[in-house]
Amino acid sequence: MAADKSKQVMFSGIQPSGIFTLGNYLGAVRNWSVMQSDFDSLFCLVDLHAITVRQDPATLRENIMRGFAVLMACGLDPERCTLFVQSHVPAHSQLSWLLGAYAQFGELSRMTQFKDKSQRYADNINAALFTYPVLMAADILLYQAELVPVGIDQKQHVELTRDIATRFNGIYGDTFTLPDVYFPKVGAKIMSLLDPTKKMSKSDDNPGSYVAVLDEPDVIIKKFRRAVTDSEARVRFSPDKPGVSNLMTIYAALTERDMAAIEAEFEGKGYGDFKQAVAEAVVETLRPVRRRFLDLMENPDYLLECCHKGAEKAAKKAEPTLKLVTERIGLIG
Ligand code: TRP
Repeated sequence: MAADKSKQVMFSGIQPSGIFTLGNYLGAVRNWSVMQSDFDSLFCLVDLHAITVRQDPATLRENIMRGFAVLMACGLDPERCTLFVQSHVPAHSQLSWLLGAYAQFGELSRMTQFKDKSQRYADNINAALFTYPVLMAADILLYQAELVPVGIDQKQHVELTRDIATRFNGIYGDTFTLPDVYFPKVGAKIMSLLDPTKKMSKSDDNPGSYVAVLDEPDVIIKKFRRAVTDSEARVRFSPDKPGVSNLMTIYAALTERDMAAIEAEFEGKGYGDFKQAVAEAVVETLRPVRRRFLDLMENPDYLLECCHKGAEKAAKKAEPTLKLVTERIGLIG
């Protein structure tokens, strides 16, 4: 299929971290799959970002395969988007090195993710952890992406990407498109089931706080049964009821109902019925995802073929930018 020049380029990345939560699904990937045909969209499993914290080789390998399969199972369609593994397209590392010369020590030092991770992994504050945002800038700028759908925690990195691009354009003339963070119109921020003031996260020590997309149905039901609510025993959306409101957000996202309709549905019913209904909606939504995932994992050859075809597509799209950048800088061909 020829590139459709009339479509805006959209790029996003996700780490192959093993566990993929309902928060990732409802907050990001489900929307990516809905939007994939509206844009010239690229989705990248960022394995090179993952190695900024120490990884066990066998586990990493497994997580990359599983990550790719989960993305496909969630609806990203290699025919309708460019889905690939970052390390399969060497232009990402190449551009990242070049852009490193246009990123300042001071601005990288100010990145809150770097500061957080340096605390969490204090025994391994490596150079790649520090230059992580430069690689992310390369991911985005390589494709001249205009839109980058990410969560609020990645906004600072996209802003840095703009700063690097602006600086480069200022020195060498227009080279890079300036990307914008894209917050999809529909999209839900899902909170922890056990502490609804915190975002649902796979790095939470207690697996009861998140639903993994591949959790078995009975596990999902149990997790919702234990979800934190409050003592009012009334299904009502309100900032002072974060637990119930979070469950309502999940239910709303899955059933496309608004809060008033959900309140009416559970009028006079207890939290037991409500939690059961939310859990069942989650189970039914994830059932086909899980089935498709298991099918894909039984067919690793097909999965790898999709990875490699995606990388080929991405590499072609990346080529002109890398060439232009090397020329602008003054490297010889
Ligand atoms: N840093 C992002 C995250 O942790 C993942 C990512 C890497 C990304 N490269 C990207 C997101 C480029 C958007 C665009 O969520």
